[in-house]
Amino acid sequence: MTDHFTCSLAETDPLIADALADDSKRQSGQLELIASENIVSRAVLDALGHEITNKTLEGYPGHRFHAGGRYVDVVEQAAIDRAKELFGCSYVNVQPHSGSQANLAVFFHLLKPGDKVLSLDLAAGGHLSHGLKANLSGRWFEAHSYSVDRESEVVDYDALEAQAMALRPTLLVAGGSAYPRQIDFDRMAAIARKAGAVLHVDMAHIAGLVAGGVHPSPLPHADIVTCTTTKTLRGPRGGLILSNRTDWAKKLQSSVFPGVQGSLHTQVIAAKAVCLGEALSEDFKTYAAQVCENARTLAGHLQEGGLRVVSGGTDTHLVLLDLSTKGLTGAAAEAVLEAADITTNKNAIPFDNPRPADWVGLRIGTAAATTRGLGVAEFRVLGDIILSLINAAAAGETSVAVGEARRNVAELCERFPIYPAMRISEV
Ligand SMILES: Cc1ncc(COP(=O)(O)O)c(C=O)c1O
Repeated sequence: MTDHFTCSLAETDPLIADALADDSKRQSGQLELIASENIVSRAVLDALGHEITNKTLEGYPGHRFHAGGRYVDVVEQAAIDRAKELFGCSYVNVQPHSGSQANLAVFFHLLKPGDKVLSLDLAAGGHLSHGLKANLSGRWFEAHSYSVDRESEVVDYDALEAQAMALRPTLLVAGGSAYPRQIDFDRMAAIARKAGAVLHVDMAHIAGLVAGGVHPSPLPHADIVTCTTTKTLRGPRGGLILSNRTDWAKKLQSSVFPGVQGSLHTQVIAAKAVCLGEALSEDFKTYAAQVCENARTLAGHLQEGGLRVVSGGTDTHLVLLDLSTKGLTGAAAEAVLEAADITTNKNAIPFDNPRPADWVGLRIGTAAATTRGLGVAEFRVLGDIILSLINAAAAGETSVAVGEARRNVAELCERFPIYPAMRISEV
C-alpha cells in the first residue's frame, strides 16, 4: 500500500519515472536547436509542479464560479499585470491553454463561420492554426494565404496589399512559425485598415525578443496579438492574448471562457506569472540580445560554409536552411544532426514540395542553447559541426563525422550544463 501524499513517482510508477529521468538525461546531453523550444528556469518548474494544480476554477480574478480561489486570484492578477507591463498593453488574458487555443479564441471573438481570413502560407512560415484546411480555423472559416516574394523570400507587401484589396478579408493575420525576418507591422496595419480588416499578429515565436526589446513590438499597430509563453519567452506551455482594444475586453474574456475553454490550468498560470516576472528583468534583455546575435552568427557561418539560408539571413532567433543545394531533404539533415545529439526539425521552405517527407528545409533556433549559455564563439563551433554533418550526409558517408560531432557536442553540453543536479557526468 503506497501513501498517496508521501510516495514519490519513482516509488509508485517506475515506468513513468524512468521515462522522465531518461528525458532529463536526453536534455542534458543534447543541444536543443528546435526553434520553438527553450529551457525554463527552476522557478518555472517549481510553479508547474505545485499542488495549486488541485484547484478548479472557472472565470476571472474576483469573479469565479467556485470557492477557494483567493490565492489563485493573486497569481492570475500578477500574471496579467506583469504581461501588461512587459508588452505595454491594456488588455491581457493569461488563460489560453496553448497558442492554438489563443488563436481559436480570437477567431471565435472576431469571426462568423464562413468569414474570410488572410494569413501567411504554411510553406512560407505560417502556422496551421491560421487557416490550414485540416484545422478548425480552415474548416469553419474561408481561409486564404499570402506568400513571400520568390527572389527575396520576404513578404511582398505590395502584392499582399493588392490581394487584401481584392479579397477584403475580415481578418488579416501576421506572424508564423518559420519566418526568420522582421515583419513590418506598421505596413501590415495600413493594409488591414485599407482593406477593412482587423489585424491579428501571432508573435508566438518572437514574444521573448519583443519582451527583451530586440524586436519591434506589434502592439502599437495590431488590433489583437497572441503568443505562446514557450519558445523565446521561455515559460511554460500555454498562450496569451494581448490588446489595446479595451472595448473588446468583455467579449474577449468570454471568448476564452466559456467560448473555447473551461477551467484554468492553475499551475500553468502560476508558471506564466513567474516567466513574465523573469522577462521583466535586465538579465532577460541580455539573453534576448544574445539569442539574436547567436542566430546572426550561425546564419553567417553556415552561409560562408556553403549552405543556402532562406531569405539570406535572419532578424530573429530562427535560421531556415534550404538543403536542396546539397541534394538532401530536411528529414535527412534532421536525422544526421540527431545522430550527433543536435535536435532540429525538418520544415517546408517557401514554395516547397507539399509532402513533409520531401521538404528540403531545416529549421534551427538559438533560444534554448543561448539559455544554456552558448555565445558567439560556441555558435561558430556549432556551425562547423553542422556543416561537417551536412556535408557528410551529402557525400553519403556519415559515420566518421557523426562520431567526431558527438564528441564535440558532448563537450559543449558538459561545459554548459542545465539544472545542475543533472550534470551528465553524474547521471
Ligand atoms: C506562430 C505560432 N502560433 C501558434 C502556435 C501554437 O502553439 P501551441 O503549440 O501552444 O498550440 C505555434 C506553435 O508552434 C506557432 O509557432
